[in-house]
Amino acid sequence: MNSTSDNWLVHDHHKYDAVLDDCEMAADVGEWKNAKHLFQKFASDLKLHMRMEDEVLYPLFIEENGDPDGVIAHLSEEHDYLVHLVHDLAYIIKSNDFDHFLDCLEPLHVAMKQHSEHEEKVFLNMANQSILMQRDEIIERLNAIQNKPGGRIWDF
Ligand SMILES: [Fe+2]
Ligand SMILES: [Fe+2]
Repeated sequence: MNSTSDNWLVHDHHKYDAVLDDCEMAADVGEWKNAKHLFQKFASDLKLHMRMEDEVLYPLFIEENGDPDGVIAHLSEEHDYLVHLVHDLAYIIKSNDFDHFLDCLEPLHVAMKQHSEHEEKVFLNMANQSILMQRDEIIERLNAIQNKPGGRIWDF
């Protein structure tokens, strides 16, 4: 698989890591307004990112390869856990209390990194010739997600 095809499947994982770092730095120096803005940006990008995976990529991989070892189901459970952690942080960040904020941010940051690594391995394993051949159609379906309501419930 060449780097272009790697890129379109795992898209922008690195940016979530970077924005959480920036959010932590802003909170650390008491720039709560900026920290909240960065967190909102992180959360709204992640909501869309998860929908692309939950609604297009995961079902596509299951359609192509089945999920005999339950790896896609496992990735989906990791999404559930991330949603839970993001909800916690959305609540805690309002308090402008750095220690509490860090107690919530750290597990989220670790879980995000682990999920991204796990997902990239799975995607690279599962991206067979048939999926690569459907690249343009898949990208169209990913882009179309932006205009539909999502399946997950977010309380903020
Ligand atoms: Fe994911
Ligand atoms: Fe992802």
